[in-house]
Amino acid sequence: MAKLNDILAIADPDGMASKAYTDPAIFEAEMERIFGRAWIFVGHESQVPNPGNFWRTWMGVDEVLLVRQKSGDLKVLRNACTHRGTRLCAEKSGSTNSFVCPYHSWGFDLDGALKAVPDMDGYPVDFDITDRKLHLSSAPRVESYRGFVFASRAETGPSLAAFLGQMTDAIDNLVDRAPDGEIKIDGGSLRVRYPGNWKLHHENANDIVHPGFVHDSSVTSAKSADGGVVPNDSLIDRGQTKGMMISNGLTPKDWNAIELTGTPEGHSFMGGFYKSGLLAHQQEDAVTRTYRKSLEAAHGKEKAATVLGMDRFNNLIWPTLNINAQFHQIRVVHPISVSETVIEGYCFRLGGAPDEIFHRAVRFLGTLVSPASMIFSDDLEIFGRVQRGLKNGGIERLNGQRGASTDMQGMGARHSTTSSELPLRVQAAAWHNWMGVEQ
Ligand code: FES
Ligand SMILES: [Fe+2]
Repeated sequence: MAKLNDILAIADPDGMASKAYTDPAIFEAEMERIFGRAWIFVGHESQVPNPGNFWRTWMGVDEVLLVRQKSGDLKVLRNACTHRGTRLCAEKSGSTNSFVCPYHSWGFDLDGALKAVPDMDGYPVDFDITDRKLHLSSAPRVESYRGFVFASRAETGPSLAAFLGQMTDAIDNLVDRAPDGEIKIDGGSLRVRYPGNWKLHHENANDIVHPGFVHDSSVTSAKSADGGVVPNDSLIDRGQTKGMMISNGLTPKDWNAIELTGTPEGHSFMGGFYKSGLLAHQQEDAVTRTYRKSLEAAHGKEKAATVLGMDRFNNLIWPTLNINAQFHQIRVVHPISVSETVIEGYCFRLGGAPDEIFHRAVRFLGTLVSPASMIFSDDLEIFGRVQRGLKNGGIERLNGQRGASTDMQGMGARHSTTSSELPLRVQAAAWHNWMGVEQ
């Protein structure tokens, strides 16, 4: 593993060393020090509502199973058989009483305990299936915040509440948008893979300098398209897609006016920027009015106005979760190798809201994150080009200084006054903190 001093020299508030994106030894250290200890998002409770339900995901490069126990608790188990290491479960999700290995049929209980080994007579007399070494290893800490489940491989460390810091308000806002108080992931997921380092996704999501350049082609196309606007509020796009693409075409002055906030834990969020179109903040239409009425009936007028009044775009919970509460979605970052990453996108259905609100969320996800997206494909192309450029060598350190002298400190967070690279700096600081603390 890379030496600690080498690692600590990599993170500078004004820019990470390029080998943080290209060196497999640094990647390996990240998997151990960050993904092996920090709180990693592993799923939403609605994905495993009943005992026996499981959801296959990753903590870093390790595949794990989020499993609802008979008791109702949640466990996160490594997806590898303790006999000879075979990947235990190939299904993405499902319901079961046990996990049975496809190789020699060892069977594990929902809590990871080994409960059946065929032909036990062949084993020595001291072979003991109750030996904990033969159980599937489970994350020692699994906690849920209002349905968002996080796991940590470390026995000790900051609590989930301390880790999330003020970002609980993004989760609160998403859940509070459901008139009946329940949200659930629905409609499957979209998945894309890009040829670049995992850090590039979060570094880009709240980078508000790039849209005017990187997304120029879709802004131009959208401006010249008729948008297919039709005069009714039913299951039709009503210009949503066009409006989303055009929104990336703000002037530099408008982008500079959008506030960015970075937290000491490495998280960040940006203000909303949809000024027109179906998803604009003050949009009025029959579906929105019906939805607002249900929310007012549930929360009262004042609280409903506060909930709907939170106008934010990406809420980045470092290192892997991006919550877009306003449009009821999340994106999750899965590192594959130092130069490969998978992004998964999911939509939530808000309990008690009109179906069309969910359909708008699905269209949002398709427009922004699908493999065929005219927006995200630009970002993915750029991630690949960054990776190739850094691999060429000659760039010792990336530059993240924009806005450094004008960021303001307040209420435990830092705030931008321009389209700042503040999110990069708080992410670099969190990277340094996690990588620098000894086990
Ligand atoms: S490797 Fe799983 S039972 Fe043999
Ligand atoms: Fe982008």
